[in-house]
Amino acid sequence: MSYPGFFITFEGIDGCGKTTQLSVLADHLCGLGIAVTTTREPGGTAIGTRIREILLHRDNVHLSASAELLLYGADRAQHVAEVIIPALSRGDVILCDRFSDATIAYQGSGRKLPMETIEGIIGYAAQGIAPDLTLLLDVDVTVGQQRAHRRGVPAGASDDRFEREKIDFHERVREAYLALARREPQRIRVIDASPSPEAITREVQSVVMDALAARGFAFTV
Ligand code: TMP
Repeated sequence: MSYPGFFITFEGIDGCGKTTQLSVLADHLCGLGIAVTTTREPGGTAIGTRIREILLHRDNVHLSASAELLLYGADRAQHVAEVIIPALSRGDVILCDRFSDATIAYQGSGRKLPMETIEGIIGYAAQGIAPDLTLLLDVDVTVGQQRAHRRGVPAGASDDRFEREKIDFHERVREAYLALARREPQRIRVIDASPSPEAITREVQSVVMDALAARGFAFTV
């Protein structure tokens, strides 16, 4: 089924800067009079916020990899039904901080869970909905780690379960994202996330405005 809206996702390793870029883009699009829904996974709904707390809490070290996968699936199922489908039906541009690619990268390559299982859960939870455009903010793992840790106050104290993973976990996640981008170059645009935030913003805006224009969205720049 096709919807009048346009679904954009932001992906990348922890600390890539996607959340900041998403918020700047949302302001830009709203300023052009475009109806925008901003959301995220996990945690784009009230139920999802509770699931996010379980998933990220640093004390939940004993959460099994398969329970983790199913919780991301539960969060997505609720999010797609409650937020994504209604926004797409209204004709909004959705800016979503992470979606199904994150499950392939983190649970598939990071945790090494079987890909067929992951794809089955993603398909069921997302009701077949896939992003129209994905911005993959790519940055070196050590840079991402430094940025992610800088968010913690006091230093390191608020690291979540993923931020505590070892470097090779994050290297596998990064590689998986880049492999997805090679497989779907039309949908997934790789953006170098190492320059200044302003330079990244310019690149993000250029890619998104071109994609929206190609889909017939009307706006005056
Ligand atoms: P965030 O910090 O970008 O909000 O994401 C929270 C964490 O959840 C991040 O470390 C990536 C992880 N994640 C998965 O492992 N699988 C998923 O399907 C999603 C959506 C996120």
